[in-house]
Amino acid sequence: MSDADRMVSGKKRAEDRQDNALRPRRLDEMTGQDRVVENLRILIEAAKARREALDHVLLYGPPGLGKTTFAHVIANEMDVNIRITAGPSIERAGDLAAILTHLRESDILFIDEIHRLGRAVEEVLYPAMEDFALDIVIGKGPSAKNVRLNLPRFTVIGATTRLALLTAPLRARFGAVYRLDFYDQAAMETIVERAAGLLDVPIELDGIREIASRARGTPRIALRLLKRVRDYAEVRADGIITGDIADQALDLLDIDELGLDDIDRRVLRTIIEKFEGGPVGLETIAASISEESDTIMDVYEPYLLQLGFLERTPRGRMATRLAYEHLDIDNNRPPRQASLF
Ligand SMILES: Nc1ncnc2c1ncn2[C@@H]1O[C@H](COP(=O)(O)OP(=O)(O)OP(=O)(O)O)[C@@H](O)[C@H]1O
Ligand SMILES: [Mg+2]
Repeated sequence: MSDADRMVSGKKRAEDRQDNALRPRRLDEMTGQDRVVENLRILIEAAKARREALDHVLLYGPPGLGKTTFAHVIANEMDVNIRITAGPSIERAGDLAAILTHLRESDILFIDEIHRLGRAVEEVLYPAMEDFALDIVIGKGPSAKNVRLNLPRFTVIGATTRLALLTAPLRARFGAVYRLDFYDQAAMETIVERAAGLLDVPIELDGIREIASRARGTPRIALRLLKRVRDYAEVRADGIITGDIADQALDLLDIDELGLDDIDRRVLRTIIEKFEGGPVGLETIAASISEESDTIMDVYEPYLLQLGFLERTPRGRMATRLAYEHLDIDNNRPPRQASLF
């Protein structure tokens, strides 16, 4: 099963497309991420008061926590146009130059997956972000000339799930860098309640709680689970999502009380049963369960780390006591001899 097929993957799937209607449009409508919201409020107010373009903003964190949503919210609050692109789709330096020359004063350029920009493209982005200038070469051979074009003052909003993959010079060009965290239970409940209201789904408080607590602190997953539980409630009951109905529907989807699915449990079981709890390298885990190591790192691992089920050590990943307990596996085995490997 690839990650895209997983019910509890934070990554975007086809069925999430209609979520645009559920996206908060204003800072006031954003639930959770209080620190980021507060900082953005100040950043935006100050820029507006000075009638300047907003400083460049970098948002990072696991998939589905609201990076794209924040980018749109910022554009709405600033009342400016937003142009959307993504690292992998800007193939050549010329592609970026074309985008940049079409920007207008104060426009926002949203670059998703910014860690996947090519080197040559990044070289064009540096002076654009810093000096609002585009250096181009006109002509060929000995008569070639360097020309510097001035660009309007614009704002880059970069989003990434992997801050560590950003080059230092690129990172340094962002005046504001915010990390998005998993949402707490209260915030998740508010998000589920709001979405149910917008989708006109009848839901009881216990139903809200159940879905919220099994969505791994990730709004995108909460919205997805809400839709699947709604289906279940309509087909197997009278359409009202009660605590019991939500519980049954999520059990049927094989999502446990902490939001872990079969693949999460396989990651943990592999480390515990095949590698005696670790440490074991990410590549080895990936090979054992036939998954991409990138996917494990982006999607599965952050939440397992957050739960305290996994630990990252210099020699690899280790399962913690909490993971043994959750899977109900006895952990009184003799510790593994590191020298054997
Ligand atoms: N703070 C929030 N309050 C309510 N809903 C939210 C919030 N943040 C995100 N959402 C909802 O969750 C969904 C996913 O958010 P979004 O697309 O912004 O995530 P992302 O971080 O950009 O993910 P990716 O890394 O995959 O691009 C959106 O459809 C949005 O409706
Ligand atoms: Mg996004």
